[in-house]
Amino acid sequence: MSSKQNHAQWSSRMGFILAAVGSAVGLGNIWKFPYMVGESGGAVFVLVYLLCIALIGFPILVAEWMIGRRGQKNPMDSYSAVAASEGKSTSWGFIGMVGILGAFIILSFYSVIGGWALNYMTKIAGGQFSGLDSDAVEAVFNTMLASPSTLTIWHTVFMLITGIIVALGVTNGIERAAKVLIPLLGVLLLVIVGYNLMNGGFGEAVTYLFSPDLTKLTGEGSSDIVLSALGHAFFTLSLGMGIMIAYGSYLGNDVSLLSMARTVVILDTVIALAAGLAIFPIIFSNGMDPAAGPGLIFVSLPIAFGSMSAGLVLGTLFFLLITFAALTSSISLIEPSIEFLEERTPMSRTMSVIVASIAIWLLGVAALLSFNVWSDVMIMGNNIFDFLDKLTSKFMLPIAGLAATIFVGWVMNQDSVRSELGLSGGSWTLWQIIAKFVAPIGVIIVFINTLLN
Ligand code: TRP
Repeated sequence: MSSKQNHAQWSSRMGFILAAVGSAVGLGNIWKFPYMVGESGGAVFVLVYLLCIALIGFPILVAEWMIGRRGQKNPMDSYSAVAASEGKSTSWGFIGMVGILGAFIILSFYSVIGGWALNYMTKIAGGQFSGLDSDAVEAVFNTMLASPSTLTIWHTVFMLITGIIVALGVTNGIERAAKVLIPLLGVLLLVIVGYNLMNGGFGEAVTYLFSPDLTKLTGEGSSDIVLSALGHAFFTLSLGMGIMIAYGSYLGNDVSLLSMARTVVILDTVIALAAGLAIFPIIFSNGMDPAAGPGLIFVSLPIAFGSMSAGLVLGTLFFLLITFAALTSSISLIEPSIEFLEERTPMSRTMSVIVASIAIWLLGVAALLSFNVWSDVMIMGNNIFDFLDKLTSKFMLPIAGLAATIFVGWVMNQDSVRSELGLSGGSWTLWQIIAKFVAPIGVIIVFINTLLN
């Protein structure tokens, strides 16, 4: 009891880190990163992604937290409040608005994949993959994709769990559980990496992931690789949708934004790279196609679990943990829509949760139908699922993130930014070069390049 004060402080800092890591680590690391690496041809994507994380993602993460901590409000009003206090236009609040819509769209397709993970948990537990070869495992996946009802059921379950968690207000408990479960997910990834070390394909996978063929950066399709990597850097760190701004608003002034950001970025990146080493050796040793798309982890991991001695237990646990990591992200994605409804309409919180969940669920159904009955419904050359994914990752997230770094680098008073970050001398100069020039110009160059190609 005597240490109550200290404890309260510790738990708020700890709570913040858990919420931020919980939001960042999710399907983006384990499902999306490997399949994007595969679609973009391997190590070149990984290299550009790592550069984007370090030079653009990291400063923008710090920038978003700073805006939230200064503004002390929801993302939209935080922008407006900080802008007003700097004597600048409050129309900066519009950027916060983009985030509500973006998070809504992301969750619609995110929930579909969360549903796949849930479904796979039951499949593995039921022994469906025991002893299957790669063709048979792919067939199981394709059967699932071809069935609108199966996909809808599991998407519904995932959305329901998300809605119930936020309606009951138990998000804190979920985040605290993440403290145990996310490291456990890391351990299980290492178990699979260990399995791969003994079962072939490992050397090939390491070369594939870490030995870039730089000529790919000049050839056809190179601008798309770079834009994909940039968009994914935003996606995996939960940037650009105001979510980190909202978390920043709960942050005490004694907390170092730079060291917090370092923790989140390192954890997130290590988990993504471990997922790569867990998946690609299986792909190569079974002669499968690394560019298989969104199904990549669902056609590779079950092969390993199907032939490991404790595969049934480990596989079930693994997909349970992925689902869990997805839930700590999905609760962050639904929150902006709920807050918006709660504050701007007469609806109660519970009613807001119900309305937001149903609306997101409906869009998710449209997304999942693009894997079967609506597979030839195209929007600007993409099926509905890909369109929603690309619209958010390649456009909305980078544009909103660009705004955050311009805001902190150019709109806010630089003396106060410096004292808030506690930087001086060379490290302050480095921060300024990155926040004022490297990050914003990097995003702009990627955009211009893409538009010209
Ligand atoms: N970062 C999460 C993941 O990697 C997904 C996510 C949660 C997200 N909140 C976000 C992406 C906000 C963009 C913006 O799975």
